[in-house]
Amino acid sequence: MLSYLHSFHAGNFADVLKHSVSAHILNYLTDKPKPVFYLDTHSGTAAFALTQDEAQKNQEYLNGIGKLWALPNADKAKLPGLLKSYLALIEGFNPSKTLTVYPGSPWFASELLRDHDRLSLFELHPREFRTLLENIRGDRRIKAFQKDGFHACISQLPPKERRGYVLMDPPFEVKQDYITAVETLVTAYKKFATGTYALWYPVVDRYRIDDMEKQFKNSGVKNIQLFELGIARDQDRGMTSSGMIIINPPWTLMQEAKQALPYLAKLLGGSQGSYRCIQLVEE
Ligand SMILES: C[S@@+](CC[C@H](N)C(=O)[O-])C[C@H]1O[C@@H](n2cnc3c(N)ncnc32)[C@H](O)[C@@H]1O
Repeated sequence: MLSYLHSFHAGNFADVLKHSVSAHILNYLTDKPKPVFYLDTHSGTAAFALTQDEAQKNQEYLNGIGKLWALPNADKAKLPGLLKSYLALIEGFNPSKTLTVYPGSPWFASELLRDHDRLSLFELHPREFRTLLENIRGDRRIKAFQKDGFHACISQLPPKERRGYVLMDPPFEVKQDYITAVETLVTAYKKFATGTYALWYPVVDRYRIDDMEKQFKNSGVKNIQLFELGIARDQDRGMTSSGMIIINPPWTLMQEAKQALPYLAKLLGGSQGSYRCIQLVEE
């Protein structure tokens, strides 16, 4: 089943969490001169027009990047560091000063990585893959594959660089994704235990996330942190929260997230906003 299209959701509250955390990881890894390998198992198209029908249908971005974008300059200047860097990237992507396009995960990586770094992108959907190819055209650091990212990513590990970041962002339209994601990350970790891994997840049925957390705790994988942002109560309909589970996070991330997430919870969730920043498994 390939019915999920990220253009309906681009820039929503879940993307703000996912991409601000991902940008922090990329910034941290590129602080040292050694080459970095980036692997995006479910890459999407790398750019989304917010002015077009799909994004306009539910206008999810308005309660996501739209709220940060609309802040007065004085408030932008006081944003927590994680969000200030993220917003600067989105502003760079929209040089006309109007928010018309939202970047996808491969763009954040291609923007923050350097000439000597490498990117591997997996995207299965035929239309999305064609758009991805157009959006990354000419960038010699990138290899894109129209393959199942869960399955294919394992063959790319460990990378020759021995420094790497794997982002796993499945659509979860099939419930099996909750299980396959954990199994794939555990297999990947066994091949490349020093890599940094990020799994994005939606909270639609809380018990599925509780199960995933238990699986990670029993997996033998060390040093896992979890960051979650909620805009509604668990019992409400639809995606009420979303989170990132990070294996081998930068040591700076917990502190940054502890400043950014309470801010986002209030800005995007109001009185129903919530967040979690926890060390799920010790180092
Ligand atoms: C949540 S979206 C990705 C969004 C993107 N990571 C971003 O942050 O901009 C999930 C993507 O995975 C693609 N997809 C679905 N199943 C896949 C699979 N088994 N392997 C690779 N891509 C898949 C979908 O077509 C969709 O574009």
